[in-house]
Amino acid sequence: MINENSESAETVKKVYIKTYGCQMNEYDTDKMLEVLRHENYSQTDCQDDADLIILNTCSIREKAENKVYSELGRLRHLKSANPDLKIGVGGCVAQQEGKSILNRAKNVDFVFGTDNLFELPEMLKMVGKGQKFSRTERHSRQKVRNFIPDYTFRQAQNFGVKAHLAITKGCNNHCSFCVVPFTRGVEVSREPEHIIVEAKRLVSTGTKEICLLGQNVNSYKANGTDFVELLRRLDKLENLKRLRFISPHPKDFHAELADAFVTLPSLCEQMHLPLQSGSDRILRRMRRWYSMETFYEKVDLLRDRLPDATLSTDLIVGFPGETEEEFEMTMEAVKNVRFDLIYSFKYSPRPGTRAAEYPEQLSEKVKAERLKVLLETQEKIIREKNEALVGTIQEVLIEGNHQRKENSVTGRTRGNHSVSIKNCGEKAGELLAVRITGANPSSLAAEPFAASPFSG
Ligand code: SAH
Ligand code: SF4
Ligand code: F3S
Repeated sequence: MINENSESAETVKKVYIKTYGCQMNEYDTDKMLEVLRHENYSQTDCQDDADLIILNTCSIREKAENKVYSELGRLRHLKSANPDLKIGVGGCVAQQEGKSILNRAKNVDFVFGTDNLFELPEMLKMVGKGQKFSRTERHSRQKVRNFIPDYTFRQAQNFGVKAHLAITKGCNNHCSFCVVPFTRGVEVSREPEHIIVEAKRLVSTGTKEICLLGQNVNSYKANGTDFVELLRRLDKLENLKRLRFISPHPKDFHAELADAFVTLPSLCEQMHLPLQSGSDRILRRMRRWYSMETFYEKVDLLRDRLPDATLSTDLIVGFPGETEEEFEMTMEAVKNVRFDLIYSFKYSPRPGTRAAEYPEQLSEKVKAERLKVLLETQEKIIREKNEALVGTIQEVLIEGNHQRKENSVTGRTRGNHSVSIKNCGEKAGELLAVRITGANPSSLAAEPFAASPFSG
């Protein structure tokens, strides 16, 4: 007998998730989708179709946080058109703001923190009963350690040619400008066995490249396995072609890890090493625990072994009290190191952080001017460095057809440069030797190189 008031077990609902912020949030979104698939939800790209909308938020800078509230404003009309629509807010803003989001945005049904995403099934039941709530309790270290429940591993699914894999959660560093230790909690390393199981599952569904994630990824340590040991274990996985990691902290980058770039075939010759500032005084006030001298030593550790390794960084301009001379020191560092890519940001005061309380906050104008100078110099360096790659032979992992160019595919080199390749029959997931034929600041052009030693 069919009860017309109850939904059949087969009813598939639609969920739309919008993700802000870093790779960790993208990873969490994928996990939410896995949990929701288990609850009979399918993903939609169209907000208008959705029964459930989740915003997975970022609070790293004020701009990121403001975007969330603007989006919630825009969603108001959808809720009036469909009163059954449920709206949830997760991620870093949710963890920090909790209940106040419910007060500020009346159309939100529930708010959940960064430890709570695996409780979505239970939360959705509560929402179904018309409850409004915020759930941001932190879990025990042990629970976080096993933070991905077993059942999410059992569903067959394709994760794509490249996938992320979180190995730590949280951060203990408390850099004075950063909200992450508040939004993600203390650092916890996952069990190595769980990481290996997850990596094997990715590889078995066709993933060729894994990027390990952690806020301070190279401080990983669990059950006697440290970061380099974990890399060694992952490198042994058959059919895993490429391994990367993000973000290592300079203070935990040492000779043994630098050696791993040479000894582990899958570990790509590319590293992101966030510098933040070129001034020792500012680095101390940022609580970064290294000086410029030690940062240069770390760069040499990598370049002594691999002179052509790609090196990228993060920089903040206009940190409280940063003088013109101190900004110049950052520019000096940029010119000396010649990074291949820089993510540069105007300092943004964040609630709860020490630096937000520092009295010498700089004006928006000064920050914007410094950012402009930095970007101009950096663009010139990147242009020169990319042009120097023209004529070289590179191994590219094909990611798929080019979205705008006919008869072309896109992929990345081991150094993580984006490449578009003309007249190429290769498919996503294949490795191909190419000759670089052109360069611009954001990507390279290439053609297949005959007798590819990498294919097959
Ligand atoms: N765990 C990573 C950083 C994650 S946040 C690491 O330590 O490298 C990414 C970048 O955002 C940081 O490296 C920093 O450059 C920038 N950032 C963080 N907080 C900021 C703030 N309050 N204002 C401006 N930029 C910030
Ligand atoms: Fe933030 Fe510093 Fe931790 Fe990176 S290392 S997440 S910048 S506190
Ligand atoms: Fe943003 Fe949270 Fe990542 S604040 S940068 S989404 S850890």
